[in-house]
Amino acid sequence: MNNKILLLPGDGVGPEIMSEAVKLLDYLIDSKVIDIRYEFSDIGGIAIDNHGNPFPDVTFEKAKSSHAILLGAVGTKKHEKNANKMKPESGLLALRKTLDLYINLRPIFIFKSLIDKSSLKPDIIKDIDLVIVRELVSDIYFGEPRGFSEDNKSAFNTMRYTESEIMRITEYAIKLSNKRKGRITSVDKANVLETSQLWRKCVDDVASKHPRVSVNHMYIDNAAMQLIHSPNQFDVILTGNLFGDILSDEASMLTGSIGMLPSASLSDNHGVYEPIHGSAPDIAGKNLVNPIAMVLSMGMMFEYSFDRKDLADTLKSVVSNVLNLGKFTRDLSRSEDYVTTSEMGDLLLDELVKNVKK
Ligand code: IPM
Ligand code: MN
Repeated sequence: MNNKILLLPGDGVGPEIMSEAVKLLDYLIDSKVIDIRYEFSDIGGIAIDNHGNPFPDVTFEKAKSSHAILLGAVGTKKHEKNANKMKPESGLLALRKTLDLYINLRPIFIFKSLIDKSSLKPDIIKDIDLVIVRELVSDIYFGEPRGFSEDNKSAFNTMRYTESEIMRITEYAIKLSNKRKGRITSVDKANVLETSQLWRKCVDDVASKHPRVSVNHMYIDNAAMQLIHSPNQFDVILTGNLFGDILSDEASMLTGSIGMLPSASLSDNHGVYEPIHGSAPDIAGKNLVNPIAMVLSMGMMFEYSFDRKDLADTLKSVVSNVLNLGKFTRDLSRSEDYVTTSEMGDLLLDELVKNVKK
């Protein structure tokens, strides 16, 4: 197996969280716990500055030849007003599309010591354990035609799904739910949108071949409400690109902080792992960002791309132990008494050294 991975720190807080993840990665490599080589490249705003393109060829080539990719975040204030093709976010979307990363997994779980950090009552969120399966390379994000009218007085996007796109993500959700509680909630807006009507039909067609899995359908507006009202009813949430984007930010707040949650974007032969939070330009460069989502994303990489669930579990317990010490970054701290990004990285490294089985 090719053991090369690509690190794409990106913009905003991306480089800071990447440095902390690399501290842990270097330790695992040096102590021969895992055999991985890594190299860096640019994506997003930094790539526009250095290469005139948010997804330059050099990054594309390195991405194709890597076994897995760890990504920090993209998005800058500086390039915010650029035309679409020259926005930092286009770099991320191009990466997802060219590698055909149609499966986006966003697990939502809570560490015990964070139960009182959520904006919801402890009772409602204490057992939360669900995963959002978001289709990632179609929908209104990529549908054509799109654009502004000639006089710039109107604009349009196209929400489009094909049967095969819906079926392949449904197949994946079913496989996943077989390893979990066997319950899928498919989220759409079939009372209004044709794409959602097709979505429902395809999900039902695929599900009918898997009688052990129970599938129910929910409208997106109701799902947004149910997620806050009674999150424990969910096991696997299967949804499209746009609804999945929105629901996953909402779900993150159940767990105390968006700074905690990792994600994996997978195709049949590639994996990109990134926190679900963005580049947070307001706190970038201040040593304030929570690096845990990045570290847990690296854990997902070990699990899904290197078949090392043991290491993913180790990283989870490392995080849990540090949080149990009452050490929190600013996003999770109610007082001025918080640890910085790099202090959190050091605490995680100390704990990793104690926990790792060499
Ligand atoms: C995410 C992000 C991206 C998305 C942006 C940065 C393009 O919000 O990964 O959730 O909308 O998919
Ligand atoms: Mn998002």
